[in-house]
Amino acid sequence: MRNSAEMRRSALLVFSGLFLLARLPPTASQEQLTPEDNLLVVTVATKETDGFRRFLRSAKSFNYTIKVLGGGEAWKGGDYMSAPGGGQKVRLLKQALEGMSGEEKIILFIDSYDVVFASGPKELLKKFQQAKHKVVFSSETLIWPDRHLEDKHPHVREGNRFLGSGGFIGYLPNLKEMVADWQGEDHESDQLFFTKIYINPEKRKSINITVDNKCRLFQNLNGALDEVVLKFEDGQVRARNVLYDTLPVIIHGNGPTKLQINYLGNYIPKVWTFEMGCTVCHEDLRPLTKLKESEYPLVVIGIFIQEPTPFITAFFERLLKLHYPKNRLKLFISNQEASHQQQVSSFLEGHGSLYKDVKLIGPEEQIDLATSRNLGVDMCRQDKDCDYYFNLDIEVVLKNEQTLKIAIEQNLPVIAPMITRTSRLWTNFWGALSADGYYARSEDYVDIVQGRRVGVWNVPYVSNVYLVKASLLHAELSEFELFTSDSLDPDMAFCQNVRNKGVFMYVTNMHTFGRILSTENYQTQHLHNDLWQIFENQADWEERYIHENYTRIMRDKLIETPCPDVYWFPIFSDLACNHFVEEMEHFGQWSGGGNKDNRIQGGYENVPTIDIHMNQVGYEKEWHKMLLDYIAPITEKMYPGYYTKCNSTMNFVVRYKPDEQPLLVPHHDASTFTINIALNSKDIDYQGGGCRFIRYNCSVTAPRKGWALMHPGRLTHYHEGLPTTDGIRYIAVSFVDP
Ligand SMILES: *[C@@H]1O[C@H](CO)[C@@H](O)[C@H](O)[C@H]1NC(C)=O
Ligand SMILES: *[C@@H]1O[C@H](CO)[C@@H](O)[C@H](O)[C@H]1NC(C)=O
Ligand SMILES: *[C@@H]1O[C@H](CO)[C@@H](O)[C@H](O)[C@H]1NC(C)=O
Ligand SMILES: *[C@@H]1O[C@H](CO)[C@@H](O)[C@H](O)[C@H]1NC(C)=O
Ligand SMILES: *[C@@H]1O[C@H](CO)[C@@H](O)[C@H](O)[C@H]1NC(C)=O
Repeated sequence: MRNSAEMRRSALLVFSGLFLLARLPPTASQEQLTPEDNLLVVTVATKETDGFRRFLRSAKSFNYTIKVLGGGEAWKGGDYMSAPGGGQKVRLLKQALEGMSGEEKIILFIDSYDVVFASGPKELLKKFQQAKHKVVFSSETLIWPDRHLEDKHPHVREGNRFLGSGGFIGYLPNLKEMVADWQGEDHESDQLFFTKIYINPEKRKSINITVDNKCRLFQNLNGALDEVVLKFEDGQVRARNVLYDTLPVIIHGNGPTKLQINYLGNYIPKVWTFEMGCTVCHEDLRPLTKLKESEYPLVVIGIFIQEPTPFITAFFERLLKLHYPKNRLKLFISNQEASHQQQVSSFLEGHGSLYKDVKLIGPEEQIDLATSRNLGVDMCRQDKDCDYYFNLDIEVVLKNEQTLKIAIEQNLPVIAPMITRTSRLWTNFWGALSADGYYARSEDYVDIVQGRRVGVWNVPYVSNVYLVKASLLHAELSEFELFTSDSLDPDMAFCQNVRNKGVFMYVTNMHTFGRILSTENYQTQHLHNDLWQIFENQADWEERYIHENYTRIMRDKLIETPCPDVYWFPIFSDLACNHFVEEMEHFGQWSGGGNKDNRIQGGYENVPTIDIHMNQVGYEKEWHKMLLDYIAPITEKMYPGYYTKCNSTMNFVVRYKPDEQPLLVPHHDASTFTINIALNSKDIDYQGGGCRFIRYNCSVTAPRKGWALMHPGRLTHYHEGLPTTDGIRYIAVSFVDP
């Protein structure tokens, strides 16, 4: 069997009662049967859970022969997370053994939802023989469920003293004897039943039972988490018990250690190795490429705006560019923030009709995040055509337009594309949980975040952007409000519910998907609040406000020299120019243009303009950062040997208008160098304008919107502002290093 689609088919065969004969028996009668041919793995699985599929995959990679009991039966063995139970397993085992024969047959009976094989039948049988008993039970450090039986357990010199019923191996006749007396109910404790046999000296002797007290065959993780580490060797991954220096064959996340087995199961036996990387990431995919657009799965996208958030317009522009047929998408938008209503409705008015359906819940509803998220999931759950639910929070910046397709093709129950916060270790997944259910860092977290380990990872918590199969919303996740909890936030509640239902959540870092915005320090008092985001979300600020060709001006020699020592280069996007102009007009307190000016030190301006200073709109820190990050590198390149920290107190937007102030008489600037950025377009917004450097009799008469002029301020570059003859001209000016 080469892929897991086949594996699944085999699993179904097993469910219908047949044996999975994965290894080809040697041409039967002539050749000697090897000991492996006598081994049969028996497990109880009433449902084909994600954990069961993981178990089968690991078994398959070692060619174990498996018989599954209980397929399709309702589970009555109790809540495996806490209370004792499991009698159903003993009943099913007893029944199954009665139908088997062969003195030499060896049965390995184990749980499957939380078990992975770390090695093959050969090693298992060798270690079984070395144990020199007819039945070997897994061992536990903790006694359970009846503490009072502690004294009755045989003492051991070293190792675990207690028996674990989650795994044992033995000869068929001995096992038959062992379960012969089972009369219990399905909800009774299998662990207690086997413990009572074991602590009875006569039975222990006649059945010939021991426990694997140093974890040579079985590793139960409960109570032993500190003893177990991953061991990478020769393209294989094992778990090593560092206390007993053993390499157990079977790893069992018994009791409350489901997250640890999920973690180990990301590697063992060779799910991810240093040599091969991820070996399962390309299995069992759901390719979309061959589908016609009309056959694409129907996805409900849940979008949530719960607080003032930057770059919302950019979010919707990206949503529009997401590669996916829009008539296979339905949008659920919950906007609980009045200040963003305009941005949402302008997107919906322009493009809403492209989508198959749109549902908007506005701030007038005043619903909390849990309710919003529950309603989003319901939109998919109540729609019989819905195939997937895609949660997409407003602060997610999906740079990868293929993200939704990639997530669907990966074909997993819940999958989150990994997104990061620029240059930090913050992401939308947790690799581990602390004891109280909050964030804890897994050993591989940093390697995953930084891309040193690439794959699809089973993790306990995902948020912000993730895809859920709708089939789960009708099955495991059908009954309740997934995001509601008395004690946990909605996202933690969701993940806890998903985990408790045994559904696996994955994060993928197989591609670069994007990042997440910080909503901290978001000022909301301005007209264009996003302009102020240069500190908090610089990457997004830059994408929106820095000229698209800025990054290649050095490489492609885009810097022009229109006059001696005057440099001219693109710096701002059109949008930045518009936003600065609109912001200043919105503020409106233009100076009178007189010499008296109490905004500056000394209160006297030699060459006054009609202007507004950056500090009047609270933009001086932001402007300074803009100068430092985007201007200083060019200054230092063009004026070699001059280094600047961009000390600049005079930063302002000037308005030239024929009937107000059309020009500026010749003057020197109080600066070492000056930046002069055109904020609108000649011939479109105004006529005339420009700048003339008198000493060189040289003019820049066709300023370009978004381009900066950089020139020395004193002595050599005596200059004037040429008359604006029609319309209004705006420039942003900085006198740097006065
Ligand atoms: C499992 O069986 C197949 C087919 O017989 C064989 O090619 C493969 O090497 C076996 N794998 C192991 C680990 O024994
Ligand atoms: C248990 O079985 C082994 C062989 O597997 C045998 O050597 C040993 O004597 C038996 N122990 C008892 C107590 O019968
Ligand atoms: C950036 O450069 C390209 C190629 O030179 C040009 O086509 C494009 O118009 C420039 N972008 C802007 C905004 O000027
Ligand atoms: C900036 O320049 C002003 C005026 O020359 C000066 O008083 C101030 O100390 C400078 N600041 C820094 C940080 O260099
Ligand atoms: C300045 O240049 C203009 C044309 O560019 C020319 O007509 C004029 O005579 C020049 N003036 C001086 C003083 O050289």
